[in-house]
Amino acid sequence: MISGYWVSQICGTAARLGLADLLLDGPHTVAELARVTGSDADGLGRLLRAAATIGLFAELESDQFDLTPLGEQLCDGDPSGSLRDRAIALTSAGHWLPYGRLFDAVVSGQAQDHAALGTNAWAYYAEHPQERWHFARTMGSFSAEASRAVVRHYDITRFRRIVDVGGSQGALLTGLLAAAPSARGVLFDLPEVVEGAREALADRGQADRVELVGGDFFHEVPAGGDLYVLKSILHDWDDERASQILSNVHRACDPGARLAVIELLLPSQPAPSFVHLANLLMLVELGGRERSLEDYTRLLAQTGFLLDRTIPVPGSTYPWTVIEAIRQEV
Ligand SMILES: C[S@@+](CC[C@H](N)C(=O)[O-])C[C@H]1O[C@@H](n2cnc3c(N)ncnc32)[C@H](O)[C@@H]1O
Repeated sequence: MISGYWVSQICGTAARLGLADLLLDGPHTVAELARVTGSDADGLGRLLRAAATIGLFAELESDQFDLTPLGEQLCDGDPSGSLRDRAIALTSAGHWLPYGRLFDAVVSGQAQDHAALGTNAWAYYAEHPQERWHFARTMGSFSAEASRAVVRHYDITRFRRIVDVGGSQGALLTGLLAAAPSARGVLFDLPEVVEGAREALADRGQADRVELVGGDFFHEVPAGGDLYVLKSILHDWDDERASQILSNVHRACDPGARLAVIELLLPSQPAPSFVHLANLLMLVELGGRERSLEDYTRLLAQTGFLLDRTIPVPGSTYPWTVIEAIRQEV
């Protein structure tokens, strides 16, 4: 457990160098791989042997390396079947440097993005498009998977205009629209993020059903939806900031409109849970927090939404819950 970070960085570095793709056509020598990747041959040889020790590659005779089925998961490709984006996103500076300051986060109770990156995480990503792209594809793969589970358990066909607030590249929204043929979608995120979504939407054949809107959800969100979706958004922020987002959604929609908050729930009783690990990540990287159902119910009530029901959506990597609320008059 203590040296687990060695393994994370070996996976991330192998992914960044594209070693799995280079070995897809058969074994190569260290010297060949060093030349193609522009790496130091001694350093790359050490990486390959360490990576072989954890099963990503196999060392053959005469300084050659081959790919294993485990290592094949680091080949480039759609993140629904490839772990390359995730390996890069979670071991690059935007995630890695703040997490290295976990001690400071725990002692101070403060996020470490400013101390580690010189700015907040989203501004950092705005300045680092390549890292932003890997992170967006990682989130997209979780959301595409989540959307398949959501539409199995949550009737989406009732809605006509679905606004995905902080919807990144639209992986969730397009999954929802596929199950609601008469609905149209609005994909709302930071301007540089929605710009990057154009191609992904076209690839999924949904460009003509989705309006792209760039903006800042602390300022305003698009009006007139009958369903607003917030997936993995509120957990990025403390209660004050999360309330501002919810209040802006409240201002944008009519009484009776529905809100679907899709998040992981902290257990209400003492129990080991993956969500406790996610909660620590939210503290150190963003100053956000995971919440229990009671916490979400309170936040929603304070911002003019009545909790209607909670729908657990099993069937994906993480145990998502849809928390459905109705916009009230205030
Ligand atoms: C953790 S990601 C979740 C993305 C998506 N909902 C999902 O679950 O895959 C948070 C998203 O919030 C967006 N975001 C951050 N700050 C924002 C702001 N001020 N206004 C609009 N979107 C913002 C980010 O660009 C990012 O796409």
